Amino acid sequence: MSKLDEQAIAILQKNDRGGYTVPTARLYPYQWNWDSAFVALGFLTFDRDRAWREIELLLEGQWHNGMIPSIIFRRDDPDYFPGPSSWQTQTACDPVPSIPSTGISQPPVLASILLTMVETGGEEDKRRASAVFDQVLKSHRWFQSERLSPVSNAITTVHPWETGRDNCPDWELGLNTMQIDPNLESYVRKDIEHANPDQRPSHEQYDKYLTMVKFGRDQNWNQKVITADGPFTMADPGIHFILLRANKDLLKLAKKMGKEDAAAELEGFVEHGNSASDYFWNESLGAFTARNLINGEFSNGFSSASALCFYAGAGSEQQHSRTIDHMKRIASKVKFMMPSWDPDADDFDPQRYWCGPVWPQMNYIIATGLEEHGHTQMADNIRRNLGQVIEQSGFRECFNPVSGEGCIGTDFSWTAAIWLAWASPSKQELAA
Ligand code: DGY
Repeated sequence: MSKLDEQAIAILQKNDRGGYTVPTARLYPYQWNWDSAFVALGFLTFDRDRAWREIELLLEGQWHNGMIPSIIFRRDDPDYFPGPSSWQTQTACDPVPSIPSTGISQPPVLASILLTMVETGGEEDKRRASAVFDQVLKSHRWFQSERLSPVSNAITTVHPWETGRDNCPDWELGLNTMQIDPNLESYVRKDIEHANPDQRPSHEQYDKYLTMVKFGRDQNWNQKVITADGPFTMADPGIHFILLRANKDLLKLAKKMGKEDAAAELEGFVEHGNSASDYFWNESLGAFTARNLINGEFSNGFSSASALCFYAGAGSEQQHSRTIDHMKRIASKVKFMMPSWDPDADDFDPQRYWCGPVWPQMNYIIATGLEEHGHTQMADNIRRNLGQVIEQSGFRECFNPVSGEGCIGTDFSWTAAIWLAWASPSKQELAA
């Protein structure tokens, strides 16, 4: 075990709040949905029971309608904004658990992580996966029904925070076609007290993010109304490809466990996902991109989510080869793959959150898909580049793809977890 492996384990232990892990102290002091799923992979390398606890505690926050919220607020922490008193999800028209949360979800990676936990484990892992299976299936059903777009066959995203790629330039299309609510209460941002404001979203973006929260609250978190009439309705290739992969992975689990009804339902979801993939194909750019559901407009940039078609196993040979051409072009412009936004775009900003930085969990899933499609060299490069930036800058939240400098959060849980599970050279030596 290397010094960095030891440091990564120490970070996960330090960020452990008694069964669930915060992404990093102060800046993000709660349990985040997709962070926790990736964190479970890290715990899996040294404490399987703790990995399962991470998932079981996340699912304690699941709504009765199936939604797994983006953040579970187990206690109010005045250091974070917007916290439980802004979301007010206890007033939701759907029954909700007693633990407060946000009123939106996040990319549904959980089923794919569960499959890895079962495939690398034994009987006890199968038993624990079986115990949570119905809850995970219910969360997929929620996406396939409550978030189904009324104007296309794509899944709707109602808030950039639901995509996890918060301030990616993809979302400017939807932000530009919405108004800031004139009755928005004044507020104080906490994120810019803990992180460099130049690396975080702008004030105008925050006003719009909070307008969306206010809309949800005013609608008592009626998810169908938010999906149909919310101020921001876009389609995200990230959520689309991650959900398609998750449906395929949950289908594999259903078959392993002999759950025939669930398997039949999941086959339907997979079919839907496969047929909806073309909605994201931007022919003039030659890539899968986000779209504004309000007017069908395509985003015109190649994001790290565009590279997830391989992970989902979606798209034609021609679509794959145009995607690979973009990735080769991008690789020639940066030192470290995979930037979250196209370095040739005017709004590329290598240190601002999702406008350029390399994100550890994205590298992991992008490379997984590439490897499965025979692009081993590119996959290997993406893994090695992540290892190199971590060696250079430590366990930061994300990294400048040009210089390798670390950005925003420090001692970050998913960076430590992805290192342990995948990017650490010792992990690769074990696999060899
Ligand atoms: C934040 O506070 O920046 C989070 O990403 C929202 O989920």
